[in-house]
Amino acid sequence: MPELSARSQAAPASPIRRLYPLAREAMRRGKTVYQLNIGQPDISTPEAFLRGVHQSDVRVLAYAPSQGLDETLEALRGYYSEHGIPLAQEELIITTGGSEAITFALSVTCDAGDRVLVPEPFYPNYQGFARLTNVEVTPLTTYRDDGFHLPPRSVIEERIDARTKGILFSHPGNPTGVVYSEEELQMLVDLALRHDLFIISDEVYREFVYEGRHRSLMSYPEIADRVILVDSISKRLSACGARVGALASRNRQVMAAVQKCATIRLSAPTFGQLGLAAFLRDAGHSAAIHAIIQEFRHRRDVLCEALSAVPGVTFRKPEGAFYIMVGLPVEDAEAFVSWMLSDYPGEETVMLAPGAGFYSTPSRGLDEARMAYVLREQDLRRACAVLAEGLELYASSVGARGVASGGS
Ligand SMILES: Cc1ncc(COP(=O)(O)O)c(C=O)c1O
Repeated sequence: MPELSARSQAAPASPIRRLYPLAREAMRRGKTVYQLNIGQPDISTPEAFLRGVHQSDVRVLAYAPSQGLDETLEALRGYYSEHGIPLAQEELIITTGGSEAITFALSVTCDAGDRVLVPEPFYPNYQGFARLTNVEVTPLTTYRDDGFHLPPRSVIEERIDARTKGILFSHPGNPTGVVYSEEELQMLVDLALRHDLFIISDEVYREFVYEGRHRSLMSYPEIADRVILVDSISKRLSACGARVGALASRNRQVMAAVQKCATIRLSAPTFGQLGLAAFLRDAGHSAAIHAIIQEFRHRRDVLCEALSAVPGVTFRKPEGAFYIMVGLPVEDAEAFVSWMLSDYPGEETVMLAPGAGFYSTPSRGLDEARMAYVLREQDLRRACAVLAEGLELYASSVGARGVASGGS
């Protein structure tokens, strides 16, 4: 058989889903598995969205226009305008999730071998999207003790070279929950201007902010032609399966190039767009999103309180999104998570996402894991109690082989 491409072989498997076969096996054995590994909220998709899908009078499920359905584009422009981001008709395109928007953004800004700076830990699929577009990720390491805020400007500048075309980050951050301060955003703006960089600002968690204030990179006029906004309704509307996202930029050349990519892939899903248009036309849409965000704020508070009682677990309270990156009192979080799924004796167990897959710097994140607080309060509390018991039992049964001498 001919060899597969190096690109496909280098693309990493998602660390978020990799241990799923062990979880499935545990469930098959009758165990309850609290799945805190994946950002799939359990919250109902808003009624108005579902009504828009059910009541549509579609007879032929035709391709939508490549840019998106007119009514959905109009409704989305209204949404951005409400949020202080007025967009002209040609500055917005509907994509198949934020995922496609990121791929488009990398495809139109970078050639093979070009680099993008990415603060790590990062959303692991960034590495996958970069591999598939032959772009190199240059990690900018951030630390739990600093709440995963950005390193100083000098450290970032050291990592910029002639092939660096842009900086890609999620804001608020997955997996860190970081919300950048005005000073950090201004530093990114200055860096983009000084080093001639694009900014790919992934704002799929843009309204999930519990501390401080989120400012979109689209609101800086001095870099208007450098910013590409990535957005998605997956999380905000608890509509991951709708596969609807968006890409926006005030750079007309960028948009023309993205438009070409969009025509190549034909169109984004029609039903998801119909649901979104109906949702945004509904007078209660802001209140519905607000209710979802408040629920996540509550879950964050519950989880942080419950985690404080778990010996050896270290963390900083996340400022946004719905994830927390915790330090575990083990040397190898992946081995621990596997053990929890395969060997932990209780009737319940927890599944976390091991931290190393969120870094591209080797050996970072080995004692960390990401938790997504996507479950209801009582399940989060129970999951933390199970985690505490699991860590204790792991320390005594796996002993010095698998357990670090202290927390970190
Ligand atoms: C930071 C970030 N960006 C993009 C995505 C992609 O989401 P989707 O393609 O469902 O819009 C995710 C999904 O988890 C994410 O966490």
